[in-house]
Formats: sequence, C-alpha cells, structure tokens
Amino acid sequence: MIQFIFRLAIVAILFSCSEKETLPTSVTSPNGAIEITFQLSENGAPNYLVFKDGKKIIDTSFISFDFKDAASLKENLELLASKTVEFDETWEMPWGEQKSVRNHYNELRLELGETTPAKRRFSIVFRAFDDGIGFRYEFPEDPTYSELTITDENTQFNLTGDHQVWWQPGDWDIYEHLYNETSFSKIDALSKRNDPNLIATYIPENAVNTPVTMKTAEGTYLSFHEADLTDYPGMTLKVDAKNLSMTSELVGSERLQAKAKVRLPFETPWRTIQIANKPGDLIESKMILNLNDPNSIGDVSYFTPMKYVGIWWEMHLGKSTWDMEGSQNMNTFTEGEKGSSRHGATTENAKKYIDFAAANGIKGLLVEGWNTGWDRWINIPDREGVFDFVTPYTDYDLATITAYAKEKGVQLIMHHETSAAPRSYEKQMDTAYSLMKSYGIHSVKTGYVGKIIPEGEYHHGQWMVNHYQKVLEEAAKKQVAINAHEPIKATGKRRTFPNAISREGLRGQEFNAWASDGGNPPGHLSIVAFTRMLAGPIDFTPGVFNIKFNEYKKNNQVNTTMAHQLALYVVIYSPIQMACDLPEHYMKDGKIHPAFQFITDVGVDWETTKVLDAEIGDFVIIARKERTSSNWFVGGITDENAREATLDFGFLPEGKTFVAKIYKDAENADWDENPEAYSIDSMDITRTTQLKIKMAPGGGFAISLFEE
Ligand code: NOJ
Ligand code: CA
Repeated sequence: MIQFIFRLAIVAILFSCSEKETLPTSVTSPNGAIEITFQLSENGAPNYLVFKDGKKIIDTSFISFDFKDAASLKENLELLASKTVEFDETWEMPWGEQKSVRNHYNELRLELGETTPAKRRFSIVFRAFDDGIGFRYEFPEDPTYSELTITDENTQFNLTGDHQVWWQPGDWDIYEHLYNETSFSKIDALSKRNDPNLIATYIPENAVNTPVTMKTAEGTYLSFHEADLTDYPGMTLKVDAKNLSMTSELVGSERLQAKAKVRLPFETPWRTIQIANKPGDLIESKMILNLNDPNSIGDVSYFTPMKYVGIWWEMHLGKSTWDMEGSQNMNTFTEGEKGSSRHGATTENAKKYIDFAAANGIKGLLVEGWNTGWDRWINIPDREGVFDFVTPYTDYDLATITAYAKEKGVQLIMHHETSAAPRSYEKQMDTAYSLMKSYGIHSVKTGYVGKIIPEGEYHHGQWMVNHYQKVLEEAAKKQVAINAHEPIKATGKRRTFPNAISREGLRGQEFNAWASDGGNPPGHLSIVAFTRMLAGPIDFTPGVFNIKFNEYKKNNQVNTTMAHQLALYVVIYSPIQMACDLPEHYMKDGKIHPAFQFITDVGVDWETTKVLDAEIGDFVIIARKERTSSNWFVGGITDENAREATLDFGFLPEGKTFVAKIYKDAENADWDENPEAYSIDSMDITRTTQLKIKMAPGGGFAISLFEE
C-alpha cells in the first residue's frame, strides 16, 4: 500500500539571480499575510524580522553559532546568492487528524559567505506558510572541517510585546511539568526546580521548552517549536525577560562539553513559529509535519489505529505491582508490601482484560510488568542489563496469552521499560523485536524513567535524539510501531517515520494517581491542546470512570468530571487511545457502564478535524470525522469554570440527518464534589441544528453522531 501520495507538486523558481543588487531578501506566505525579511547589519551580522498583515510580529532577531574548535559564525558575512521558490503539494497521512494535507509555501534560500580569510559559507532557508514560518541553517562541506562541535546556536526570537505565555521550564531531562500561564516578563523557570514528583529533572537556567504558545495584546496567537529534529539536540528557549527576547539554548552534553557534534554537510532542524488569528487554527495547522520529509519506511499497514486497555492503571493505583516478588526496591508509584506478591501481569489477569476488551469493541491490550527485572531496576545507579525484554515472569505465559488474544480479536501491545539505559536497549532491540515479530505483536510502549546512563547525557540531548532515531529505524525493519514514554519531543517526524505512532512527553494521567501535589488541575488539557499537542500525538491514557478511587488512594483523584474524560477521546489526538481504568470500574450494576458506549463507538483515525471553539487554558471544543465511516464525534472540555457551549453543526454534510448521543455532565456535576454525575441524551441533528450544552466546573461533553 502506498502510504503517501504526491498529488501535486509545483516547483516554480520565482526568482533566482546572482546580481547582488537584485538578490531577493524577503518572502511572503502564499496568501500574502506573513512576510519574512532577512538583513545583514553594517558589520555583516545576519538577522530577520517577521510581519503579519504588515505589522511586525518578530522584531529584528540575530542569528549566530559558536564552535569549540573554530571561530564563531556571527558577523563579517555577505550575501553571495539567494532565490525564492514556490512549493505546493498535497499528501496523504497513513492515519492522522486528517487524511490529506496541503503543503504550500514560498521559500527564500540565502547563501552567505565570510568576508574574512576563513571564507566559510552557510545557508539560511526560510519558508513562509499561511499558518506560520520555518527556517533552518545548512552547513556545506568545508575544506578545513569535516566535523563541527557546536557550543551554542544563538537564534533570537525578539518579541514585540509582553505577551501572555503558556510555558513549561526548559528541562533537559523531562517534559512532565505542569504548564504555567504568565506574561512573558514573569516567566520564572528556576522556580520549577526540585519538583518532588520527577525522578530526573535538570533546569539549568531561565528557559522554556517548546512548543511554547503566546497570545499578543492584538489577539494574534504564536507558538514556537521545531520540526525535523535529527542528529541534533532538542532546543529550549532562553528567556530575556527585560528585553522581551528568547534565544535558542540547545540541550547539552557533559561528555561532549558542548551542545552538538555534527559531520558536514549538515542541516539543522527547522525553527518554527506558528501564527494564527484563532487558537483553534494552531491545532488545525499541519506546518510542523510539512517541514518533515515524506514517508521513508514504506508500507506501515502492519499497524492499525486502535483503542486499548491495559494492566497499567491498577499498578499506578497500587492495586497490584509491576514486579512479581513484591520487592525491596520497586515501589516507585505503589506502596507495595515488601515480600508480598501482588503481581499484575499474570496470565489470568491478562485473560480477564482480553475478555473485557473483546466484549466491548476494544482492540488492544498493553501489559506492563510482564518481564523480569522490575524487582531490581529503580533508583539503582547501574541499571545496564536489568531488563532483557524477552524473559517473562513465571506467572506470565506469553504464548498462551497471545493465542488467547488472537482468538478473541485482540492484539497485544508490548512494553519495554528501558530504565533510561539506552545502551542496553540498543544491544537488545534486535532480539526483543524478533520476539515480538514471532508472536505477531506490532507495537511497543517504550519507557525511559530515570537519569540517563551514561551520566553526563540528558534525555533531550543529541545523543538521545540519535537513540530514539535508531529505535524507529530498527523497529521499522521488524514492522514494529513505537509509543515512547519519556521521549524526545515530537517534531513531525511521524511523517517520515509513521511507525512513531504516539508518545508521552507531558504530564500524563498517571500523575493523578500518585502526584504529591494532588494531580493535574482541571484546566490542564485546555492548555496541553495548544502547547504539547501542536507537536504531535499524545498517549495521555484517558477514560477514568472511578474518579475518586478512594478504595486505593484517599489523597489523590482525577480532577475532572467523567464526561470530561470521555471528551478527551476527541480533544486529544492519538492513533492509539487507552481506556485506562480497571475493567471493574467500567461496570455498573453487573453490566457495562452505559457511558462506556462512547469509548466503544469513538473513532481513532480521522478524515477531518475542526476546532469549533476554544480559548487557551479555558476550554476547547473539537469535531472530528471518522475516516472509515460517515460518523462524526465532538468533544468539549472546560477548566475549573462552568461554561455553556453553543454548538453549531454547520460542519455536517448537507441533506443528512444524524442520530446524536450526547454524554454530558449532570446539572449538579462538579470535578470535586460530584464528578461522576452524567446524563445521556439522544436526538436528531442536521447541519442547521444549534445546541447549548452546559459544562460543569472541570467538566465537558462528548457527542457521537451516526448518519441515519
Ligand atoms: C512511566 C510511564 O509514563 C508509565 O506509563 C509507566 O507505567 C511507567 N513509567 C513504568 O514503565
Ligand atoms: Ca511518564
């Protein structure tokens, strides 16, 4: 099966010239609204500006590089050549938020050369899209250097005001911080150090991680990120609160005593700014994906988007344990009694979950804690070789379970907790993926909990970026799809490697089970949708029905209503969506809970996505049409404030009537006082229907629309 199709590719050289006086130095988006201007200062220092509708939105911002063994590239540069090119194609996602994606931009390529004796050259490539801009640097082969050790990339983003910002600290080891909302000048990343809920965290300075999203006083929305992060460190953005300016700060390596080592020729990832008039346009933008190369791994039909259940939440709640022995060491998230065995991953328990999945239209089962090693891994400095990913605990019979699952139409999802020992994992990948192949298992959840070994490397540095890349490549050879936890940030690579199906890289549902700060606040996902989700699919693991779980944890709960949990299947995009609660929590009066019908029905692969209404940090309402049917689904969530949503169904096709099932908060629902109170209504809906739905504090709603 062909996974991507170039339907239209117009590449027209609009202008190309080597006459200095006529060299182009600016480029506008296809609709003319966004303009990028490049300049060289008097001393030959490169800088750029960005305009929207003729108004400056990025002020004069300089670009430079510092190297370990060469002089900085900073000034004394001249423009040797430049050209603009228009590009327009439409390609198809194998699965995704939408089926076809238009990639339309104007590009400005500038070739720069030093006027000083070294005479080094490099290029800057700008792309102006209707939904934002991207630019990157290209270093050609050089007679003097075959490699460059980069100590700093200094790409400036000078803001035009003290914008409102949704940010999390520029942590070199984890993206699992809560988002903060402040004005730009009030960003204080250092106050986020020493989070007691994070095992590995390193925040060296006042910087933010990307995507970082802003709203200007004029109501323009900006989100800063990167695309196609390959063989290079992740980028944080250093905050200069006084000058309202950010500068790229690459994640470093103590071993390298630098940020990156690259072989020439080399091109950096794209530095990106999504630019929108409405917050929803940020979600609908596919610019990050468009800045990545087409599918390079061919047929990926071995993976099918699906919903899954898992032996997972029960460990986070403390009902069972990952390890079989009830160990001395492995009690990271659970208060297991030493020496007692409450092992979750048993053959019997797996069969129970398979039966539940098969009876309720769920296609996948994740099992964590199935392999030996869990009794030894956590908080020990030398974690190399603790897990082998092929040896099951004696009470877990992989052959029996896979056969049973197959018979019931359920697929297993493998689990590899690498314990942040990537060298061990690289040695074992081949055997581990071969074992999966032999059982017909085509996806794996990987994990990287803890400080990276070897010491001196960070989760988001170049060394780990290359590790995650190697994993995708090796997995592709064995037809394995990857859902990475504690991952490197998503930068649209799923276009090139569609087997990068989903990832964590945010404060997920699990924090609600055990975080000492009481879990994720009700407004968490209303920010995540406009920050983390702009990077790519999220394995958030929604679907908790037993919101308070007092029988397990008195001091923790999910801080949303149950209807809000249902809405997340539409609001959050991922081609794998977990129904994370325990099978018994999905039962009511001896039968399947009536609200579970929504999870059974909801799609996981979409033809179209439309953000109906949103305000960042407050609420978001999204409608998606399933790819394999004519069904539509709508999900809406609110923060701690109750709201009334006015829905206009104008997105539905002409002349059709849909039967809607509306799952919503009961009148007296409240995320804290009464989170499980809900109601289900049915009605006919057409494209002229207008509907008002009340969302409780921390609440939401979910609607399925079936064509009549
Ligand atoms: C952290 C992951 O995010 C979580 O989902 C998993 O259960 C544990 N690590 C154990 O691997
Ligand atoms: Ca995690």
